[in-house]
Amino acid sequence: MENSHRTKGLIRLTMACNERCPFCNVPVEDYPSPTPAEDDTMRELDEFVRSGERTLTLSGGEPTLLRKRLLRVIAEARGRGVPHVELQTNAVLVTPAFAGELAAAGLTSAFVSLLSHLPAEHDALAGLPGAFAPCLAGIDALLDAGVRVTLNPVVARSTQALLPDYIRFVLERLPRVRSVSLSAVQPHGRAAHDPTLLPDYDVLAPMVREARGLAEAGGLELLNPYCGLPACVGWADGLARSVEAIEARDGGWRTTPGIENRGDKTHGPDCARCVLRPVCGGAWRAYWETREGRGLVPPVEIVEPWTGDGAMQEVVRGFGASPAAALLAASAPTVWLWTDRLTDGEPDLPFTHLALEVEAARPDAASVARLVRLGNRRVHVGLRLGSAPVDLFALMRVLVARGVHAITLLGAGDWERSLPPLRRAFPGVELR
Ligand SMILES: C[S@@+](CC[C@H](N)C(=O)[O-])C[C@H]1O[C@@H](n2cnc3c(N)ncnc32)[C@H](O)[C@@H]1O
Ligand code: SF4
Repeated sequence: MENSHRTKGLIRLTMACNERCPFCNVPVEDYPSPTPAEDDTMRELDEFVRSGERTLTLSGGEPTLLRKRLLRVIAEARGRGVPHVELQTNAVLVTPAFAGELAAAGLTSAFVSLLSHLPAEHDALAGLPGAFAPCLAGIDALLDAGVRVTLNPVVARSTQALLPDYIRFVLERLPRVRSVSLSAVQPHGRAAHDPTLLPDYDVLAPMVREARGLAEAGGLELLNPYCGLPACVGWADGLARSVEAIEARDGGWRTTPGIENRGDKTHGPDCARCVLRPVCGGAWRAYWETREGRGLVPPVEIVEPWTGDGAMQEVVRGFGASPAAALLAASAPTVWLWTDRLTDGEPDLPFTHLALEVEAARPDAASVARLVRLGNRRVHVGLRLGSAPVDLFALMRVLVARGVHAITLLGAGDWERSLPPLRRAFPGVELR
């Protein structure tokens, strides 16, 4: 969570920059007056200190362009009890002397945009010829001064296939670096105008898996940061290091299970059956629009409890017994409550999917009415058909109005013939 750059307080010292990254999400040209008055920055610092947050991030633009102000803000923050101050930098201007001053002022860590281990690729993504060597020297200087360094490669289409080599390079050339925040280009700022910069997730997924293996073997921590990669892009078995998954669980999936994307990420139609959907923020709208969601494939599909067992999901049975304790103890990405009756307090319990199995001829009206309280959770209804005649159209109208996502017809009968007209009448519901 410390590495989630959304949850930390962040002060941008100046929007001016010595680089011209073609993907920059906060480009200087969007700011009519790039550098705020020093008093304004100090007021921001006051606000941060009052907030009681523990990690202050200093960013920009390039904050090292304002050396004196940067040193002053770091020293004041530390002097006023802020335990962690992190500098986001391209490191090009960080000389050994300046790194020493930063450390002496109290800088605890640096988050450095080393964009590739190949000088030509790095310089192209930095928009500054010759940037690679001083960036690397800046990283060395920070490490020499005792500042902890996390690298940020910002993987782009041009570097996606080079990711394992990047990790090999870090392990060999920069063994004192202990963490890499594996971010990929987001379609914001300059990159919003050029979505071709975004990586191809089908190419990137195996690279991420290989990179994670190399990092683990070398003792290097790899993190899938906030606004990072969808879980199916190499992180399905790395949820403990994926900030969105951590937040989905820690930050409240127990009260509002699943993450609905604030911002401009979204899910595709296949995500509805993905077992990781409750802990995955999905992909950028721009990715769905320009690449048709290529590479975004559920690693494991959900299995309704009446069908059988599935990987990465837990099923807690209601059916008369209280499911509360078992639901509170459940930890899989997908947690089903499987029951024949939804009682009053149950909509507030922490499950991500409801499997409600009811007699189609006598559906429990109170249970059906409570479905609207399930918010963004997935609701699957199993309709048990017997010999009594059932008006499936009328029943489905009620269920669809209550927000049901999927309906399975259970039990013997010749209802197979009813499926095509029902599907036509209710195109938004999965029917099987
Ligand atoms: C805007 S930069 C400012 C700090 C400094 N100039 C630097 O380059 O590191 C802050 C962080 O955002 C990252 N970043 C910028 N644009 C991005 C994008 N479109 N997608 C993902 N990360 C991006 C940078 O690599 C850097 O780590
Ligand atoms: S398929 Fe969709 S929900 Fe599943 S991991 Fe991929 S983007 Fe996330």
